[in-house]
Amino acid sequence: MPIPHRVHMAHLPTAVEPLPRISKMFMGTELWIKRDDQTGLAFGGNKTRKLEFFIADAQQSKAGCIITRGALQSNHCRQTAAAAARFGLRCILILSGHQPREVQGNLLLDLLFGAQIVWAGNDNPEQTLQRVIDKEKSEGSNPYSIPMGGSNALGAYAYALAMEEFLGQNTPVDRIILATSSGGTQAGMILGAMLFGFEGIITGISVNEKAPALRRKVSALVREAAALMDKDINLQEDDIVIRDEFIGKGYAKVSELEIHAVRLFAAQEGILLDPVYTGRAAGGMLALIRSGAIGKDENILFWHTGGAPALFAYGDVILSEE
Ligand SMILES: Cc1ncc(COP(=O)(O)O)c(C=O)c1O
Repeated sequence: MPIPHRVHMAHLPTAVEPLPRISKMFMGTELWIKRDDQTGLAFGGNKTRKLEFFIADAQQSKAGCIITRGALQSNHCRQTAAAAARFGLRCILILSGHQPREVQGNLLLDLLFGAQIVWAGNDNPEQTLQRVIDKEKSEGSNPYSIPMGGSNALGAYAYALAMEEFLGQNTPVDRIILATSSGGTQAGMILGAMLFGFEGIITGISVNEKAPALRRKVSALVREAAALMDKDINLQEDDIVIRDEFIGKGYAKVSELEIHAVRLFAAQEGILLDPVYTGRAAGGMLALIRSGAIGKDENILFWHTGGAPALFAYGDVILSEE
């Protein structure tokens, strides 16, 4: 299998930094952070690493446009729109639901990057996506479709390389914690850990899906990415660590857990989390350390996957009185 093509736009390697002030609050646990919120493109985030491969693949296949879908405040869509702009590709985003009255956060940026937005409205977003793809095909534009969250073999492959990058940064950690949703980021890290020798635990804090179903998805993605690299791996689905007790009322339903984490990281370390993904993951991490479930005498790395532009769409909630 030839090595997948790649364009270069991410600012790599992203920094690994200590979190001294938050660590101090948890005697015995040393916290670190990997700054994939600083991948450089359009306020950064984890999808930029994946997009280096999608854009190259789209160029290879002489695509006339890039199409993907996501939620109203999708970070994946914002980074896709920015990457498409950067490489002169037309971009169509299918966003769930109806156009809101206020244009804020990621949606504002999608529009600035010149993406065409198709609102799914009351329709099923996946069917809307398919309709748009069919229309583009019928017009001969050869669309390049990226799955939701950029989670396929190529996207996971990008994160196997990210793990290699992290291991080269020589930060001895016992555990990595990240927000996991469509699964490609965690799958890539797990594959990278197997290939490049990380023996710690990779704990995905699920943002929206129960652990058994997400474990199946992550496991399939690890296998597909390994096949892309022509690697044989020995993975037991049960070894994939996913915590699903922080989903609360569901996707993007912000609660005290996320608000507390967003405020704490900002006030103590000057670091911006987002209310949907990294706020939930960091809130989950802090809850697990507090309860003693993890962290005793551990070095823990919080892998920051970005998302801060969404903060501006949740200002009232984040600043609401407790
Ligand atoms: C900020 C942020 N963190 C984490 C994730 C989860 O990544 P994945 O979908 O690869 O599991 C996303 C996905 O949209 C995200 O936007």
